[in-house]
Amino acid sequence: MDFLAAYDAIPESEPARRVALLRRHMKGDGPALFAELRAGRPVFATPAGVFVTRMPDVVEVLSTPDVFTVGAYGPVLEEVLHGPFMLARDGADVHWHDRGHGQLMLPAEDFDPVRRLTARLADSALDRAVTTARGEGRTTFDYIQEYSAPVAARIAVEYLGFSGVPERTLHDLSRRVQWAVFANPGRDPEVHASGVAAGKELHDLVAGVIARRRAAASADAGPEPADVLGRMLRTVLPPGTGREMDDERVNHQLAGYLIGYQQNATQCAATALKELAARPEALAEAERLAAEPDTGSASEPAAFDGYVWEALRFHPFVPSTPRLCVRSHVLAAGTERETRLAAGTVVHAAMASAMFDEAVVEDPYAFRPDRTPVHNMVLGHGAHDCVGKYPARAILPEMVRRVLLRPGIRPLPGPEGAMDYAGTPYPQHYTVTAGSAPSPRRAGNG
Ligand code: HEM
Repeated sequence: MDFLAAYDAIPESEPARRVALLRRHMKGDGPALFAELRAGRPVFATPAGVFVTRMPDVVEVLSTPDVFTVGAYGPVLEEVLHGPFMLARDGADVHWHDRGHGQLMLPAEDFDPVRRLTARLADSALDRAVTTARGEGRTTFDYIQEYSAPVAARIAVEYLGFSGVPERTLHDLSRRVQWAVFANPGRDPEVHASGVAAGKELHDLVAGVIARRRAAASADAGPEPADVLGRMLRTVLPPGTGREMDDERVNHQLAGYLIGYQQNATQCAATALKELAARPEALAEAERLAAEPDTGSASEPAAFDGYVWEALRFHPFVPSTPRLCVRSHVLAAGTERETRLAAGTVVHAAMASAMFDEAVVEDPYAFRPDRTPVHNMVLGHGAHDCVGKYPARAILPEMVRRVLLRPGIRPLPGPEGAMDYAGTPYPQHYTVTAGSAPSPRRAGNG
């Protein structure tokens, strides 16, 4: 029986069973579920909210923040982060102002230096993982624990400015916060409490980093770090541009960046490799392009990068993002899908579905690295799309590229190569071969 028939067979009077079935399908085979919804019920009202699955409707929801707000999770995000943050608010006060500040602090000019930094950190992590595996008589290593998580966190230390905070701490705290806010639909109290405690710990760690930076600056102890935090601490906004960015608000920005970044980068660097490995032709071509020296620019990425973004279209970190409809709205007006949504409705913008909308995306199930970025929502879309998109565009392709430059490091074939989520919403273990000798030929920005 297909999903919709099974769903409709459950009486409306049993909403919990309907939601359980929906979640099972979402987890078991999200792409098949979304394909069925796009074809049969593109605007799908359930007791857990309305799922919007077609590209134009997802774009409408994510681009109309005065109707569809982040109120669906904003209050929880602020409770967990212990302060205001752009992804938790809409409108002039916090979102417009802090996002504008974020765009200045995470500029396109960072693309090249962040790419070089990623190359350096990725190479040394791969060297370490291979050497350790060989020293311990292993032929494999754990890509997530020994590569993508520590590299992402090291970038957070050196680029974002979490100086002196251990990588493991950054990774664990960000995972607990992410889980509590974005992957806890039933609001499990233990997961929530763990997120709140992690958010407080993160806030206090950042307060310590800021205090040390301020003390060093007033003692005139050498040049100030040129990382994102250093930039934020040196920036004084002109009067009349909104609220002052005092140290507490800088703290919320930096902590929020870690939450917007760490788990995403860790997972995407693994799932992009997985999707490429599942397509031998695409993998071979990506390997060839990886060895070319050109790493592109923020405005014109290298041909290689298209392989990574296309791979992630098949497995995005954020498959669907919830919004709260705050006033009555007619969605998809004038189409067959036209639906009036009442104020108070939670609407799920299913980006993972929109990216496969056959009415908009040509041959959506084909792997095409040269697709227009307009149809790629891996970094979100609309009012709250990724404010860290420039560093993200350097970090993710380069993390994958450094691996592809070592033919000996590849996922295991078959079920052995499956990712292990270890009971969490995020992949925790991914076994890869450790065949390649440390320090291969350096290419491009490496
Ligand atoms: C590395 C891979 C990254 C991925 C896959 C990613 C993905 C995303 C996605 C999908 C959204 C939209 C969320 C939504 O609409 O609910 C988003 C927003 C956001 N991202 Fe990223 N991101 C990445 C890197 C970064 C980096 C490096 C930073 C900052 C240093 C960052 C900071 C943010 C922030 C602050 C927002 C919210 C923007 C707003 O509310 O206006 N992200 N990101």
